[in-house]
Amino acid sequence: MNDPRPPREEAALRGGVGEPVRHDSAHLHVSGEAAYTDDVLEARGTLHAAFGLSQRAHARIKSMNLAPVRAAPGVVAVLVAADIPGENNVGPILHDDPILAAAEVQFVGQPIFLVVAESVGAARRAARLGVVEYEDLPAVLTIEDALAKQSFVIPSVTLQRGGWQAALAAAPHRLKGGLRIGGQEQFYLEGQVAYAVPGEDGDVLVYSSTQHPGEVQLQVAHALGVEAHRVAVECRRMGGGFGGKETQASHPACATALAARATGRPVKLRYDRDDDITITGKRHDYLVEYDVGFDGAGRIAGIDLMFASRCGFSADLSGPVNDRTVMHADNTYYLPAVRIVSHRCKTNTQSNTAFRGFGGPQGMLAIEYVLDEIARALDCDPLAVRRANFYGPGRDVTPYDMRVEDFVADRLFDELAASSDYATRRAAIRKWNAASPIVKRGIAMTPVKFGISFTATFYNQAAALVHVYTDGSVLLNHGGTEMGQGLFTKVAQVVAHEFGVDLDHVRVSASDTARIPNASATAASSGSDLNGKAAQAAAAAIKARLVAFAAERFQVAPEAIRFAANRVEIGDVKWLKFGELVRLAYLARVQLWASGFYKTPKIHYDPKTLKGRPFYYFSYGAAVSEVAIDTLTGETRLLRADILHDAGRSLNPAIDLGQVEGGFIQGMGWLTTEELWWNESGRLMTHAPSTYKIPVASDVPVDFRVKLWERGENVEDSIHRSKAVGEPPLMLAISVFQAIKDAVASVSGYEGTAQLNAPATPEEVLRAVTAATKRSTAPV
Ligand code: MTE
Ligand code: MOS
Repeated sequence: MNDPRPPREEAALRGGVGEPVRHDSAHLHVSGEAAYTDDVLEARGTLHAAFGLSQRAHARIKSMNLAPVRAAPGVVAVLVAADIPGENNVGPILHDDPILAAAEVQFVGQPIFLVVAESVGAARRAARLGVVEYEDLPAVLTIEDALAKQSFVIPSVTLQRGGWQAALAAAPHRLKGGLRIGGQEQFYLEGQVAYAVPGEDGDVLVYSSTQHPGEVQLQVAHALGVEAHRVAVECRRMGGGFGGKETQASHPACATALAARATGRPVKLRYDRDDDITITGKRHDYLVEYDVGFDGAGRIAGIDLMFASRCGFSADLSGPVNDRTVMHADNTYYLPAVRIVSHRCKTNTQSNTAFRGFGGPQGMLAIEYVLDEIARALDCDPLAVRRANFYGPGRDVTPYDMRVEDFVADRLFDELAASSDYATRRAAIRKWNAASPIVKRGIAMTPVKFGISFTATFYNQAAALVHVYTDGSVLLNHGGTEMGQGLFTKVAQVVAHEFGVDLDHVRVSASDTARIPNASATAASSGSDLNGKAAQAAAAAIKARLVAFAAERFQVAPEAIRFAANRVEIGDVKWLKFGELVRLAYLARVQLWASGFYKTPKIHYDPKTLKGRPFYYFSYGAAVSEVAIDTLTGETRLLRADILHDAGRSLNPAIDLGQVEGGFIQGMGWLTTEELWWNESGRLMTHAPSTYKIPVASDVPVDFRVKLWERGENVEDSIHRSKAVGEPPLMLAISVFQAIKDAVASVSGYEGTAQLNAPATPEEVLRAVTAATKRSTAPV
């Protein structure tokens, strides 16, 4: 105990806060050993379930003959709505989303009955044998139709500020237009899956691939008609969630729990890819209209924006998703006089839900589109128009009344414009295009400002439970879930830092409702902000007890005790290994575990007026994209992308960089190749990778220069002054879309508009190019 202190270099901590350590499961991911819900060892007697799905978009169920299903080989039970002992609902906010449709079906793919069989194959084959007689009802299949029929899942919302009508009327220039923005399938590599294991006396344990175990627990309890304490939900990790498992994991979880209750045996349900895409909701597609007034420098004087989104047949999270669209329609720009109208359209299609960005991307794409059109109308560089509209002194209040106190987009813009050589390249591209009749190039630079916090204020809370065992090892439990984003690694780094021990001494448990109750969804990019703070508080509580104990035992002042590099220094003379102090403290009966709790300060928000301070702070980024388009085929390719992203003082630059790269490429897929297409009877035809194209490795640009902003720092007291990074980078991909738009504009010699809808698929690019060609060759 009185050993001489080892030399400094040996005393370094491995895996503390700010170190670019690898994801804690990286070696398991690449070797295929990481255990997902479908890998949980199956208990004896496990059965498998499959849904029977609606074949109509909107119909009354006249009759249902399930005798052939029950008679099929291997079938053990068939459940319909009437067999649900509790509530037949998985709607998270409104109770409008049945587990099994009863009298009426509301979209093609809606589950009507549940087959439980001895094998996956038997369940799936039997599910096709149900004979359902429908009486068709009028179906609403498009946003336009929903608007015409005033078909909404929840009432429309209007946010306004200032005299926008007068501002529009008085503005020297005015533009009106619109665009469509497509939806997006989450395409998590691991599909929706749940495995329910019945316990004694009505208890049930559900393994669920969910971003929100606490909500799955409640939904299962409601469906079974039991109290929540009988249901435990566990999730070790997801193979991706991307928002798609924020609410919609409840559906398979409730189904398996109901089937387990009915049969007394463990039941698993894993959607196959086609079923997953057919049943579950996606990113909302939008129709946007704008009317904007501006001056000669392109500065917006007033703007009137209309958003109408496809919500599908039920509300799900459409309220908060559309609210976030409204609150991100400013992006980095000051809108002095503004009206934003938001319609939440009810359609007979899948119930759309959360997807990375949560409505923000559509709001931001709309304003970026408008600014690009303004620049084209004035024939100036879109970058200059964007900069002219930035928030700044005296122009710093958002349309929802929140002051922007941490604006850094201007600095990011200047640094990135210089490092990417934007101006020179833009000029070179124009020259190159003049000499290239078929292939055209385009370039664009766009900023990102994304509000961090759940807009539903009460969700901004988290808890953690930290155990220190007598050998000095640490087990960390918190309410967050791991979906590949590296949350577990980052929070473990926070705890390792607090105790001054190497990261390998901290192990993170699976997410489990029995360990951490009432946890919020891991969503809104706030996982590490919330759980990091809660875990820090728990570790700090244990540390305080250890300090008090050591001060007394060694008769020194508490300030003389330091936790560093796996040891505890007692003044200048003595040191112990962390585990040694822990063991002594245990023998002295010191409590070696603690809980921690955190709630985000400063935030408040009125969902009726959409005003307040919904966000604790903003995350920022900027991107420059250069593309080439083929004007004969409409094909596009991203040639180079330069990104500068502000993750504050990053908890883990390696993981954060991965989030930036992945988010950007996922956003590029949304805006270029991923197209959802329903036929005239409302059947989604793009339900497999054969027809629905997500980006692949070869779509990553050969020249990809991604950097975290070195000077980044959160002005608010976030966990170690880091910033949330999960969603914001997706919106950096708006630069890819705007670059394609720039290339299209070259076809008409950069004269006037370049109308382009998202996604900019080859068909859409070809349509836009054809329109631009006609305009440029038309007689004047
Ligand atoms: N990264 C991976 N690899 N997989 C995912 O499913 N989901 C995104 C983002 N990054 C996701 C991801 C979404 S939608 C959110 S809200 C955040 O991660 C959630 O995690 P965080 O709050 O810990 O950042
Ligand atoms: Mo992310 S869309 O908030 O799950």
